[in-house]
Amino acid sequence: MQPLRIAIAGTGMIGAVHADAARRAGARVVGVSASSAQRAKAAATRLGAERSFDSSEELIAADDVDVVHICTPNDLHGPLVRLALAAGKHVVCEKPLSVDAADADALAALAEGSGLINAVPFVYRYHAMAAEARHRVRSGAIGPVRLLHGHYLQDWLLRPTDDNWRVDAAAGGASRAFADIGSHWCDLVEWVTGHRISELTAVTQTVHPERAQNGSVATEDVVHVVFRTDLGATGSVVVSQVSPGRKNRLWFEVDGAEHSVSFDQEAPETLLFGGREHTESVIRDPGTLSAEAARLSPVPAGHPLGYRDCFAAFVADVYDAVRAGSGTGTDPLYPTFADAARTARITDAVLRSAHSRNWIEV
Ligand SMILES: NC(=O)c1ccc[n+]([C@@H]2O[C@H](COP(=O)([O-])OP(=O)(O)OC[C@H]3O[C@@H](n4cnc5c(N)ncnc54)[C@H](O)[C@@H]3O)[C@@H](O)[C@H]2O)c1
Repeated sequence: MQPLRIAIAGTGMIGAVHADAARRAGARVVGVSASSAQRAKAAATRLGAERSFDSSEELIAADDVDVVHICTPNDLHGPLVRLALAAGKHVVCEKPLSVDAADADALAALAEGSGLINAVPFVYRYHAMAAEARHRVRSGAIGPVRLLHGHYLQDWLLRPTDDNWRVDAAAGGASRAFADIGSHWCDLVEWVTGHRISELTAVTQTVHPERAQNGSVATEDVVHVVFRTDLGATGSVVVSQVSPGRKNRLWFEVDGAEHSVSFDQEAPETLLFGGREHTESVIRDPGTLSAEAARLSPVPAGHPLGYRDCFAAFVADVYDAVRAGSGTGTDPLYPTFADAARTARITDAVLRSAHSRNWIEV
């Protein structure tokens, strides 16, 4: 079988992670595009791609590309996805799928209708211990779920001198912290529990109304959300990009009637399994875990796995689906455009609630 031929639009932090994951999954990185032809040339050399394209449009149109990975700033996701689907390419698009919730729904419907594989890297699902948490919740081992809570905290935008294209609503979208990282938390917790956030109330905060390069700031640094789920649980999450000392602290806990599970993305080799009489730190040992978690555990216990391993496992699942020609199907293993459209709707509800100071149905 010929290796899949993939190309990557956008070669910043995450584009490099996609290139690595694609190679680990046995694909050829045929080419890359960047914000200019010159930058694309340099990126092709840096990432070991076979060639560079002068533009993302040229990359998408290339006959020798099977799968397009879209890793550009957020405002370009929707337009590039449309071009890629129209060109008959399978698409891996970074989150958020679109800067607009209705547009994200439209893109998910377009992809579904195309029969092409579509995926969005909500890769924290690919931590073995997150999958173990899911198994323990879904199998009933913790009892009926009562509350879901947690946070996603970072500090890279702590100071007013910290800046990025994400700060600018035109490039990143109206929501920054929530769309950027809160979306990961919601996807992960809904995936683990099977609960869906059905209504919410949110408070947002912009700590720095001015930043060094972007000037006046309209996007939020902090979000607090309180919510109810469709299955009768309650929950809350704090999302922040200005929490000193927190680098990528995605943490959640699910409290059931008998036990709790809690998972910390920065310490992903363990899962805390709580009980009133006995609380245990479960280690990632494929010999003792559920089949779902063992599948995501390619090396034995004591050989730590991390973010890039999750990414590689995600991309491998997507490429398996492309090779199988199976279409997205009803319940694929990997997160799809439909999942990303769902997080876009939650993001939209968060902004509307913060603006109106009301509870909003998702
Ligand atoms: N799934 C995850 O865990 C995860 C993690 C980080 C970032 N992301 C997402 O990935 C995307 C990129 O984020 P990043 O952190 O890599 O940003 P980045 O700033 O490091 O990289 C973005 C790149 O896109 C390039 N670019 C700009 N215009 C372009 C165009 N027209 N065509 C091609 N390239 C263009 C820029 O030159 C830059 O190299 C964002 O949408 C972000 O939300 C996802």
